[in-house]
Amino acid sequence: MPVLVNINGEFFPPEEAYVSVFDRGFLFGDGVYETARTYFGRPFLLDRHLARLQRSADRLWMPIPGGLHGLEHEIRRSLEAARNADSYLRIMVTRGSRPGFVNLDAATAGDGLIVIIVRPLEAFDPACYAEGVDVALVGVTRTGKRSLDPKIKSGNYLNNIIALHEARRQGAFECLMPNQDGYITEGSTSNVFLVKRGALRTPSLECGLLDGITRSFLFEIAAEAGYRIREEKLLPADVFDADEVFITSSLKEVMPVRSVSGRQVGDGRPGAVTRDLLERYRARAHREVGGEAAPTDPAGA
Ligand SMILES: Cc1ncc(COP(=O)(O)O)c(C=O)c1O
Repeated sequence: MPVLVNINGEFFPPEEAYVSVFDRGFLFGDGVYETARTYFGRPFLLDRHLARLQRSADRLWMPIPGGLHGLEHEIRRSLEAARNADSYLRIMVTRGSRPGFVNLDAATAGDGLIVIIVRPLEAFDPACYAEGVDVALVGVTRTGKRSLDPKIKSGNYLNNIIALHEARRQGAFECLMPNQDGYITEGSTSNVFLVKRGALRTPSLECGLLDGITRSFLFEIAAEAGYRIREEKLLPADVFDADEVFITSSLKEVMPVRSVSGRQVGDGRPGAVTRDLLERYRARAHREVGGEAAPTDPAGA
């Protein structure tokens, strides 16, 4: 069963995987989630993803049924059952449902719901890595830290969906959202980095963005490789002035950006630092899961 859905511990094929219309994840986006992947069939940085899931749930006063140990057991069981060479993993926890009730008050929720979707990992178009992608600065601002804090990876992604839509209308692959003060935050499902004179610059968490697992893993890799990294308040002008730009996520890894809102980045080709970091990232990811040094990579490129 290459696409497999685990609902509260029970496996379903995708066409039979249903949850209640009264589930608060469906009604209100009242849930938290993580997207992760495997390398060599083994989950990558799962402990960090689970820790972030717990932090997100805590911020919403939402219990995780069975706790993180139970959840990890179910994730590993699902991966084994799916038997994919490499898998995409979506791990969701919602506040659950009380059949017949539609009520914002969290106290009216029943038991939480756990859904784990396992699918064969799909490769990005290799051109995304060989040529870079186009991103667009959008007018839609990222939700503020004092409203729906972007650090909470909740099931409510409307802010990101609207922003991505705006970018796609400009023909871009990903958006870059400013915060209310005009500082750059992140993309719809990616963090962003700039390279200037060989040093890395990325929006600081105080600007209001998700504390990406790839972002922090890359800090470690870049520091080991001797790059200077600065977390800063960055303006659109800094992005336009960068020698290189790249975006990161668990699925995209380190993806070069060739243009921002129609303006070419550097010479329009993936830069040397971006290419170096992508290579180091993959090598470290492979080592981390205990794999070979240079495998065929199913994520493209
Ligand atoms: C809003 C947002 N920012 C950044 C990221 C990248 O996070 P990670 O590196 O943990 O995948 C994601 C991933 O989905 C995201 O949704």
